[in-house]
Amino acid sequence: MSYANSRIPESAQQGVHAHLAARVGTHLTQPFRKPVADYNRAAFAEAFAGWNGRAPLILDAGCGVGHSTIELARTFPDHWVIGVDRSEERLRRRKPYPDALLPGNMVFVRADLVDFWRLLAEEGPPLARHYILYPNPWPKIGHLGRRWPAHPVFPFILRAGGVLECRSNWAVYVAEFAFALELALGRPVPWGAFETERPLTPFERKYRDSGQTLYRLCVDFDAAVEI
Ligand SMILES: C[S@@+](CC[C@H](N)C(=O)[O-])C[C@H]1O[C@@H](n2cnc3c(N)ncnc32)[C@H](O)[C@@H]1O
Repeated sequence: MSYANSRIPESAQQGVHAHLAARVGTHLTQPFRKPVADYNRAAFAEAFAGWNGRAPLILDAGCGVGHSTIELARTFPDHWVIGVDRSEERLRRRKPYPDALLPGNMVFVRADLVDFWRLLAEEGPPLARHYILYPNPWPKIGHLGRRWPAHPVFPFILRAGGVLECRSNWAVYVAEFAFALELALGRPVPWGAFETERPLTPFERKYRDSGQTLYRLCVDFDAAVEI
């Protein structure tokens, strides 16, 4: 597939999955008992090793090659930015800047978000900002449980606090995320299409350059009203 010819996820599912409400209800009321893996606990400690204990925190969840983590660290120089991805290969990929020019207020760690989010919610300081940018869409109807809003880890994403932003090129993904958040928070969570002149991630750039519509939601867990 050539660069600016990427496709919108194809799915037989055209709207919010019929089972999503029940899944969210279950996950909000039942404990998530799977033990946290040692390597994720070590990665969690590593993520905070360089933090001064005061800087507001930003999590770039599923940061891929990390361009967004670098950009966020430049945009918010007084914050500590943590880029998490489970792919060592992506994290290691060459950055658009020499190492010496990378911001000092960020760290990349290899971890599984399922454990990282649980550690953050239960043991970590609250986030100021939280980005889930172009998560794997898992567009097949039967893959509902792999999408973050339908995953057992969903309640921990909320408990991490701060302002959460999720972006996707699949409208259904963002619609489901907003729907799940509304169930959990009991208030409307607006979402919609947006345009950007300055893509934050390689996936965003590729989708934009392919002429696709980009979608996002933004919700402030600490506020009564969405921003
Ligand atoms: C479609 S890519 C998007 C990467 C980046 N945010 C971007 O927009 O360019 C999704 C990323 O999520 C990561 N990912 C998926 N599931 C994960 C998990 N359970 N824990 C950590 N990273 C995960 C993948 O390795 C991949 O890098």
